Amino acid sequence: MIEVKHAIKSFDGNTVLKDVSTIFETGKTNLIIGQSGSGKTVLMKSVVGIHRIDSGEILYDGRNITSMKRKELNALRREIGMLFQGSALFDSMSVLENVKFPLDMFTEMTEEEKIERAKFCLQRVELSHALDLSPAEISGGMQKRAAIARAIVLNPKYLFCDEPNSGLDPKTSLLIDQLIQDITHEFNITTIVNTHDMNSVMEIGENIVFISKGEKAWQGTKDEIFDTGCEPLEDFIFASNLYKEIKKAHKFFQDKESSTKQK
Ligand SMILES: Nc1ncnc2c1ncn2[C@@H]1O[C@H](COP(=O)(O)OP(=O)(O)OP(=O)(O)O)[C@@H](O)[C@H]1O
Ligand SMILES: [Mg+2]
Repeated sequence: MIEVKHAIKSFDGNTVLKDVSTIFETGKTNLIIGQSGSGKTVLMKSVVGIHRIDSGEILYDGRNITSMKRKELNALRREIGMLFQGSALFDSMSVLENVKFPLDMFTEMTEEEKIERAKFCLQRVELSHALDLSPAEISGGMQKRAAIARAIVLNPKYLFCDEPNSGLDPKTSLLIDQLIQDITHEFNITTIVNTHDMNSVMEIGENIVFISKGEKAWQGTKDEIFDTGCEPLEDFIFASNLYKEIKKAHKFFQDKESSTKQK
């Protein structure tokens, strides 16, 4: 579990995070949603410790990173897998070498053990057939899967994904979302995903934190999101006509259910 308590972060007098408090739960896909520029990436980078917050606390299973020295923070980073915007694979390395890279950097494993572990992770994301290809030779969706394999190769307790679906078609996005959620459940990871994709929200939104202009405006699950009464959230969700129709249908079935109960 990751707890954020009263996080404030400014850049040159511009306050981007305004007293954000929230909890990201273990073994769940926790989503941070909100409009472009609302502060999702700044929040995620603050939680990871890439940005140091001005005030407040961030606790990883009780461990406060805001008071950690660099050495402690580096040790904690070993427990974190990251997938940032773009897959950021190394073009000069094969898919297998890319996934093995964190093991080369951070472990004392033998070459044989490292290859075995990297192959296991690549098998998990169904890329066993692409081990020797270079990132340029595989599709965008496959690159994302390779990046996920690399993010989990050190067996992280925490996984951060910033817009994992950017640049992917809806069907491939769905597969990536499902893969992230399956891995989260399978390895009991505290996963945080930044997204502004409503499909992802409805697919994997087990714990959703809505950020509006740097403030946490709402928190709940995908089943609660159509009835929040939170105006900025409604604006965000129902910007798409498709979700306006879904809201109408949702209301229709609710009304029907309550009239059946009354009878
Ligand atoms: N390093 C920085 N220095 C100064 N301002 C920053 C920095 N990083 C982000 N900001 C500002 O913080 C605000 C929030 O940015 P952020 O990247 O968190 O938005 P976002 O919600 O992730 O948007 P998007 O959906 O487009 O990725 C923006 O106004 C941005 O200009
Ligand atoms: Mg962002």
